[in-house]
Amino acid sequence: MRPSIRTKLPGPKSSIIINKIKKLNIAYSNPYPYVHNKKGEGCYFQDVDGNVFIDFASQICSNPLGYNNPEINAVIKKYKQSPIKYGGQDFNVKEHLDLLEELITITPKGLNRAFLVNSGAEAVENCIKLAMRKQKKAKFGISFRGDFHGRTIGALSYTHSKPIQKQNFFSVQNKILPFNETGGENLIKIINKNGASKIAFVLTEVIQGEGGYNIAPEKLVKKIRKITNSYNIPLIVDEVQSGMGRTGKWWAHQHFNISPDLMSSAKALQVGAAVTSKKFNVEPGSISSTWGGGHTLDLAIGLKTIQIIKKHNLLSHVTRLGSYLKKGLNNLNLENVRGKGLMLAFDLKDKNTRNNLVIESLNQGLVILGCGEKSIRIIPPYIISRKEIDKALEIIDTSNKKVNIPGFRHRGKICSYIQCGESHT
Ligand SMILES: Cc1ncc(COP(=O)(O)O)c(C=O)c1O
Repeated sequence: MRPSIRTKLPGPKSSIIINKIKKLNIAYSNPYPYVHNKKGEGCYFQDVDGNVFIDFASQICSNPLGYNNPEINAVIKKYKQSPIKYGGQDFNVKEHLDLLEELITITPKGLNRAFLVNSGAEAVENCIKLAMRKQKKAKFGISFRGDFHGRTIGALSYTHSKPIQKQNFFSVQNKILPFNETGGENLIKIINKNGASKIAFVLTEVIQGEGGYNIAPEKLVKKIRKITNSYNIPLIVDEVQSGMGRTGKWWAHQHFNISPDLMSSAKALQVGAAVTSKKFNVEPGSISSTWGGGHTLDLAIGLKTIQIIKKHNLLSHVTRLGSYLKKGLNNLNLENVRGKGLMLAFDLKDKNTRNNLVIESLNQGLVILGCGEKSIRIIPPYIISRKEIDKALEIIDTSNKKVNIPGFRHRGKICSYIQCGESHT
């Protein structure tokens, strides 16, 4: 397959479906201008109008193995009988055990307990609750400026990436640290003022996702780990976007040689997971979820995803192809190229130019995604080849040159769909 755009975007069939969803969905956030037709192969997919795209957005990091992966399709074929979803925390399915067992083969040493839920926000939410349960005198939790942890009220209270995400939503008690080398000193100040026992947890993304693919300074991560260890404050690392091999290691925090007390995973794992150690065991009934551990197909795909990454040595592939891609982006003289493995980003001169670049690339059949104020994230599936990277780089280059021509404006209705490359997760 190769990228081929035959219609204006969105095409006529896509337009009908998207506009109907828009009418009925109270919070539809300007979706991308196409509707998947389920055909696709590897990094390519087709829409219902026959346009073919190359996907460098990977369903926001939740599709690490691309489209119609034969080993994943074989798993899907086995699930022919209803129900697919069981009440997994109360009624048992073997898939629950299988995923837990496989998951703890890749989690950091000592983190060998997990609670499975439905989404990234729930994974973070349950890490927060497990920490609160342990820190019985605690009054607040702490996270970092620019963090994104999800949309439930708990996770959202610790999210500080864009004001629109929080407007009118009350917060759980929280404090904010700067995402730079002064973060450690600030944490000490909070401890000195309030007492360590008042702090339920420190929550962080070591590579901020939605907030702009900002990599934490190594000194900050190490310092925060040291302080939280010495004051017995649980450290939660949110690996919902950066985990499961995206950076070339199973978990992004492994690039910093630290280990958290709790960790959230989701997206590429296909289900949410709050991962921790038995120190954080809670009494029955204190946390639960109807479908947690009972979404059999998702659990089976999550299991197979880990197995495929292992079997095909995809972590080394991600590292190798990640450096090739990063080098290619640098050769295009893009601003502030950064990231690890296949979790890469660069900046444009302003938000408007970034948004135009998303649209121009789409018009040439490349799907990319914005993040932060004026950045583009580059997150292809782990199975990407050099040839596909070359094609994507060519599209980025031509689009970038075009959108930087003074007075450039994109044409057509496309931006009333995609609201110009804004991302939401
Ligand atoms: C780091 C991080 N945490 C939490 C979430 C929330 O995940 P979900 O959208 O599955 O609730 C996201 C989503 O993008 C994320 O990137």
